[in-house]
Amino acid sequence: MIWNSLVALAFVAPSHALIRFGCSQLVVNRIDPLVNPGEAPSPHMHQIIGGNSLNVSMFPENHDLAKLSTCTTCQPADDFSNYWTATLYFRARNGTYKRVPQKGNVGFEGQKGGMTVYYMQNQLADYQQKAQVKAFQPGFRMLVGDASATTKAQADKYPQLTYTCLQDMNTRFPETKDFPKKPCPAGIMVNVRFPTCWDGVNLDSPDHMAHMAYPVSGTFESQGPCPTTHPVRMPQVLYEVIFETKAFNAAADWPEDSSQPFRWSFGDEKGFGNHGDYVFGWKDDALQKIMDEACYVNCKTMRTQTIDQMNSCSVDSFVNEDVGDNNWLASIPGQPM
Ligand SMILES: *[C@@H]1O[C@H](CO)[C@@H](O)[C@H](O)[C@H]1NC(C)=O
Ligand SMILES: *[C@@H]1O[C@H](CO)[C@@H](O)[C@H](O)[C@H]1NC(C)=O
Repeated sequence: MIWNSLVALAFVAPSHALIRFGCSQLVVNRIDPLVNPGEAPSPHMHQIIGGNSLNVSMFPENHDLAKLSTCTTCQPADDFSNYWTATLYFRARNGTYKRVPQKGNVGFEGQKGGMTVYYMQNQLADYQQKAQVKAFQPGFRMLVGDASATTKAQADKYPQLTYTCLQDMNTRFPETKDFPKKPCPAGIMVNVRFPTCWDGVNLDSPDHMAHMAYPVSGTFESQGPCPTTHPVRMPQVLYEVIFETKAFNAAADWPEDSSQPFRWSFGDEKGFGNHGDYVFGWKDDALQKIMDEACYVNCKTMRTQTIDQMNSCSVDSFVNEDVGDNNWLASIPGQPM
């Protein structure tokens, strides 16, 4: 579905909110406060957006993101959550690596790296958003995907983690479970969609996934009911991360054996290990208030800040190492040669 036609068709009055916003980069760093708290460096590199209370450890009992943050890289001024994914690297023919930068989506061209975040109650193309969801609670966090997945069957356990090979910035299909096999003129968009049914009790779980589930009918897109074990319908959180591949699209730089040259920061060359992390940090009940408004993208209850304000928020690096933005690296940080 093409974004412009979505907006053009949005004449049916919505019942509840769907929001879509840009967030600039907070930091690119080898930390993972959800999976590897206290470890700096963590096993692999991440690109992280959101509130500047980000730290190597952020346990919910003593880390209130909304209270500790003084700025956020996200457009909604009340969103101090942290959102992250792995970073992407390009492997040159001589075996050295450079990090592939991200760019803002349509409408957020001025943002510095980062990604686009959505909160929806029904699927993206549904302008009515009739379902009603409960917003996440303070202390809530979750993960989706499996960094160790190496086969399509393993990746298919997570039905909505995909790639879109952007012919232009409005390309939205097809979506694939593995990396595009050919150069993508406008970049590679990584789509990370989280499960939407909560057990109603646990803000987290040992694998950071068991407290959440998919609807019984399969995917969120089917708009089916939640299972009895996870009865509470939550917003669907979607990340669109657009990796700007234009410096790496020349056929002469691609491998001679016609394989594709991109690697996730955890070494994955197929792309089946796509995953994303979420640590909730909206101020008070700001997210619930927005979700309850009848609006599609342009929601009055969502206080916003300018792209300059988003871009001016950042944190110092927790790990002092070259992430490969300017120099060709002998190996991806933390990975074997
Ligand atoms: C991160 O945590 C450390 C250890 O608790 C603390 O000393 C430091 O001030 C924190 N940094 C930020 C930016 O909150
Ligand atoms: C490796 O390849 C890159 C990209 O073509 C090039 O810029 C770099 O100089 C090469 N490094 C070495 C050591 O040859």
